[in-house]
Amino acid sequence: MTTWTPESWKAHEGRHLPSYPDAAALDKVTDTLTSFPPLVFAGEARALKADLAEVAAGKGFLLQGGDCAESFAEFHPNTIRDTFRVLLQMAVVMTFASKQPVVKVGRMAGQFAKPRSSPVEVIDGVELPSYLGDNINGIEFTSEARIPDPQRLLQAYSQSAATLNLLRAFSTGGYANLRQVHQWTLDFMDRSPWADKFAEVSNRIGEALDFMAACGIDPHSVPQLQGTSFYTSHEALHLSYEQAMTRQDSLTGDWYDCSAHMLWIGDRTRFEGSAHVEFLRGVGNPIGFKCGPSLAPDELLRQLDLLNPQREAGRITLISRFGDEKVEAGLAPLVRAVKREGHPVVWSCDPMHGNVIKAESGFKTRPFDRILREVRGFFAVHRAEGTHAGGVHIEMTGQNVTECIGGGVAISDAALADRYQTHCDPRLNAAQSIELAFLVADMLNEEAIDRAQRAA
Ligand code: PEP
Ligand code: CO
Repeated sequence: MTTWTPESWKAHEGRHLPSYPDAAALDKVTDTLTSFPPLVFAGEARALKADLAEVAAGKGFLLQGGDCAESFAEFHPNTIRDTFRVLLQMAVVMTFASKQPVVKVGRMAGQFAKPRSSPVEVIDGVELPSYLGDNINGIEFTSEARIPDPQRLLQAYSQSAATLNLLRAFSTGGYANLRQVHQWTLDFMDRSPWADKFAEVSNRIGEALDFMAACGIDPHSVPQLQGTSFYTSHEALHLSYEQAMTRQDSLTGDWYDCSAHMLWIGDRTRFEGSAHVEFLRGVGNPIGFKCGPSLAPDELLRQLDLLNPQREAGRITLISRFGDEKVEAGLAPLVRAVKREGHPVVWSCDPMHGNVIKAESGFKTRPFDRILREVRGFFAVHRAEGTHAGGVHIEMTGQNVTECIGGGVAISDAALADRYQTHCDPRLNAAQSIELAFLVADMLNEEAIDRAQRAA
């Protein structure tokens, strides 16, 4: 194997990378980014790795979620706050059911670049290059907007820094105080059939907190009650940007991609020999690896040996995304192979990317039922194989959008047009996200009962 450097990926096959008309302009921007402060510190990436190592050992659960693609247009403090809030509420529901810590990771503060199924988009006979994410080109359907512009990377960096700053403020500045989290009632909850269930969980947490306070355990004596850990992640697709954000840690001498705590490799770029795998093998961050239907067990094992030769727990999260019909048959052989070889991984379920359909109305959507079915299938496989169903990875927003059909407050095909705002794939709205959290909570509960019975 050749020596890794921050730019050794350039000698490998890179798919889904933008080509800029002015290479010198890109170099200038990446030089500037290299001189900018890192967005995260290596020690934080190591802290996330330690949290994920616990999950890999069956002692915790990973909740990873956020936009399919962040956008410049939707950049607003309320949007960040609402997504953060729903993720925290989901985590509360899951923690309460499983009595295990939930590791919270946003698809936020850097999730811009997108791999596209086609390099071109055709509307009314006009063909233009596809939209690749706000950090690369514009979503407007004009030839001008679709030209990759390196200046957009600077705006994406700045938006990521501001988003991360607000997330840090929310998670440690008192907003995420557990007393408060369980009291949050969102306007959408009034109309949700899940409102009573959420109120019940809230009341029981309130009682537990009252009891603890009476025993002298309160946010003053136990700072963990005052805030929470919240991490960021995105697909490490735009390798020039990721390289520019990669720094050598002064404490350990190791390299870290300081654009986010966790980075993942997409299903389209995780092939053997890819530039994306080459880049990520050399950075010390926790790494996600998407596993779709075309991934063979022996190939996965070779990639694990490459990405995690030391078999460090918490380093690798395998994110399966098969689709509801394929998950049971497709996931089981991978789980078996990884277990047999003793790789310590977190298994997480992305029930979004295998369940995209085109609705009759013409919108790209995801039926909520299929999302739930894939999650159930994922848990069933792990139960049968005796492995830990370790997490979920979802595209969601705290806004009341109408992008995925179904759910307790049912969204019909005809309603998709009401608030279809995504810049890429359809997201769960706030109510659908909470509903999913209750389903996951039930399954975690069953897993815990199973474990207790086996131990008895
Ligand atoms: C994504 O997570 O937005 C994505 C493109 O997923 P995948 O690589 O699994 O298709
Ligand atoms: Co997506």
